[in-house]
Amino acid sequence: MSRVIGDLREDHRNVGDLLGLLAREIDVVDDAGGGDFELMRDIMVYMTRYPDHTHHPKEDLMFERMRKRGIAPDTEATIGKLLREHTALAEKGSTFRDMLVGVVDGALVEREALVATGRDYTDFLRYHARLEEETVFIEALELLDDTDWSAIESAFEAQIDPIFGPVVQHDFQTLYEHIRNRVET
Ligand SMILES: [Fe+2]
Ligand SMILES: [Fe+2]
Repeated sequence: MSRVIGDLREDHRNVGDLLGLLAREIDVVDDAGGGDFELMRDIMVYMTRYPDHTHHPKEDLMFERMRKRGIAPDTEATIGKLLREHTALAEKGSTFRDMLVGVVDGALVEREALVATGRDYTDFLRYHARLEEETVFIEALELLDDTDWSAIESAFEAQIDPIFGPVVQHDFQTLYEHIRNRVET
């Protein structure tokens, strides 16, 4: 049994926790205009650094291996949709990250635009992860064999999660402390 699907599900749980934090901060911005913009920025820097560069490409490779094994037309349609969503998520994520980097650096960003962009991103990513868990993750487990799983594992072996991996990267130390404190309180 491969650990690929287990790792992808764990990524979804970790990302889900971060999206929860982000959604709460977006509500604060919407209600009061304040909010912890540095925390939001750090979350989006992480989202555009790890999920966009490791999690989604790992899924893309898994989809490619599924296609090689032969898939039903409805699975092909779902995979096509998910691949397009990976591109859209990377674009939406970079836009939102750049807005937050701007706010932290003192740029004027319209509150309504920030809230709308943030909610669009969090809702889209939550829906996307749910769709994967309910469809392709289950189908991949039925379809792929040890050769496929080993190829996927070894392709991403060197890519370590900078927050939830064995070592917390310096850039994400503050965000990590925030997550840990929330869990402990
Ligand atoms: Fe995905
Ligand atoms: Fe995913």
